Amino acid sequence: MLVRLAAAVRGRCDAEALAVMAAARRRLLADTTELLLHDPGAGPGGRGGGVRRSTVAAVARRSSGAAAYHRLLCRLAELAGDGIILELGTALGLGTLALAAGAPAATLHTIEGDPALARRAATLFRQQGLRRTTLHTSTFDEVLPSLTRRLPRLDLLFLDGHHEKDATLRYFSLLLPLLHPESLVIVDDIRWSRGMWQAWQTLRRHHRVTASVDLLRMGILLFEPAPHRRRLTWWPHLSH
Ligand SMILES: C[S@@+](CC[C@H](N)C(=O)[O-])C[C@H]1O[C@@H](n2cnc3c(N)ncnc32)[C@H](O)[C@@H]1O
Repeated sequence: MLVRLAAAVRGRCDAEALAVMAAARRRLLADTTELLLHDPGAGPGGRGGGVRRSTVAAVARRSSGAAAYHRLLCRLAELAGDGIILELGTALGLGTLALAAGAPAATLHTIEGDPALARRAATLFRQQGLRRTTLHTSTFDEVLPSLTRRLPRLDLLFLDGHHEKDATLRYFSLLLPLLHPESLVIVDDIRWSRGMWQAWQTLRRHHRVTASVDLLRMGILLFEPAPHRRRLTWWPHLSH
């Protein structure tokens, strides 16, 4: 898996998929529609959730990160093939679009606790015809107990919401029984706060994690049997 991961990080996402992702991003960045947001997680800058006004364009700029990281996400998703992908934190759906572009045959579940964002993501998924994607509009805590009972396994887990140490570790523990030796876990924003950095360090040392790769903004955990635990840092190729 480490060899396949290295190839994916260096690789290139399909040109047609890139064009679709770029067009969707451009549309959202130009959309000045007002939103009343209820972030159930750590909120912007870790200042807590609460209710605040924003616009679609501002959310696209802030919570969906650099376009280059979505291109990387697309390449990583290819490793899931026709498996099962779970994303915690949909926001406007740009990350989901990248995952679906990289793994069009995969079954994708994504969870968003903010109803206004979830409605926007649902519109995007309809426009893009993402038929293998299920959007769950609720908090992770509400959805995960029943979802984990229904899923046979997880091939790719993208932890990208509720960026607090305890919450991140809790969601990882809850989903751990679904992970297998070929699974991939992507933890986003590992340098976003002290707590996220501590969560990442704890996860790297978890007894089931056999290799971890620090890609600067995100970290990847691997579970395939190995004689030694490997901790790597790679500079991702973000230009393609
Ligand atoms: C960083 S954004 C996700 C970005 C998205 N994955 C992407 O790549 O475009 C995090 C999202 O997680 C949602 N969120 C945070 N904590 C949550 C929770 N406990 N339950 C449900 N959603 C949550 C927030 O409302 C926010 O929209």
